[in-house]
Amino acid sequence: MPGAFKPDLKYSDVTPHSAWLNRRQIMAGAAGLVLGSQLAFPASAAVNLGGYSQSIYSTDEEPNSFEDVTSYNNFYEFGSGKSDPSKYASALTTDPWSVEIDGMCRNPGTYNLEEIVEQMPLEERIYRLRCVEAWSMVVPWIGFELAALLNWVEPLPGAKYVAFETLHRPDEMRAQRTGYLDWPYIEGLRLDEAMNPLTIMAVGLYGEVLPNQNGAPIRLVVPWKYGFKSIKSIVKISLTDTEPRTTWNEIAPHEYGFYANVNPEVSHPRWSQASERVIGAGLFAARKPTLMFNGYGEYVAQLYDGMDLTVLY
Ligand code: MTE
Repeated sequence: MPGAFKPDLKYSDVTPHSAWLNRRQIMAGAAGLVLGSQLAFPASAAVNLGGYSQSIYSTDEEPNSFEDVTSYNNFYEFGSGKSDPSKYASALTTDPWSVEIDGMCRNPGTYNLEEIVEQMPLEERIYRLRCVEAWSMVVPWIGFELAALLNWVEPLPGAKYVAFETLHRPDEMRAQRTGYLDWPYIEGLRLDEAMNPLTIMAVGLYGEVLPNQNGAPIRLVVPWKYGFKSIKSIVKISLTDTEPRTTWNEIAPHEYGFYANVNPEVSHPRWSQASERVIGAGLFAARKPTLMFNGYGEYVAQLYDGMDLTVLY
């Protein structure tokens, strides 16, 4: 669970940032702002990334190494250890993949992932991901705004929330054969949060399709909320008028709220959220002070005007 601490893994600089940045500059030089790439890394390819542009919403912080991003993960379907997803997620098959979109929208249906991605403007979005366990890393995602997908299916006027569901396939997701979480993993957002331009559906990172351990072939990324909101390997999206149930809130409602906005002033009942350990910075590096809304307040604070965020955490 997000609250279960495990001993630190050892990090290495096997894939240094500079190698990736150099490569990126070469490609940017060749193709202007539109980048495309084919890195040799074993990931299932249900998605053709084609070209993508750079986003104005990216942080200018340096991304973590590809190795950090792909080897230190939470993906409980493959185990609760940080290295379990990179060890076991290769069992997941992601091609073909479809996403069922149902509930309060004009165009419900089961859509092939290729069909969705072809219609969406892809961008690279470099975001800091802040986990509820008080660590963070910076990830160069490739994705599209969830708003684009929702506009495509046209929410009905009464829709107020969006619910998400992960694949349930115990044959391939080994920890789903156990009962330590109530599978499938589920999450939800308020519709205005889902429509905020910062909220993306990621289908790639570091210039290639999503590695399985990061939630292939399509996952949510909500950068101003704790990482557990960013549900992976999504097969179902529902528009609804009632607040969706969410996995961690059901397990421990006093520890994990529906909103889960990054908030240094509201401690988790078992630890402070005032600062975070920066993955890849080394064991003795200073902790980084955590910022309200993970630093994205100018884009999202107004969503919560008039709400007491110590009660609706
Ligand atoms: N989605 C599913 N389906 N299962 C999970 O266990 N873990 C969450 C989130 N999405 C999780 C999930 C948590 S706790 C975090 S911190 C992020 O994924 C981690 O994303 P990353 O592996 O890309 O860093």
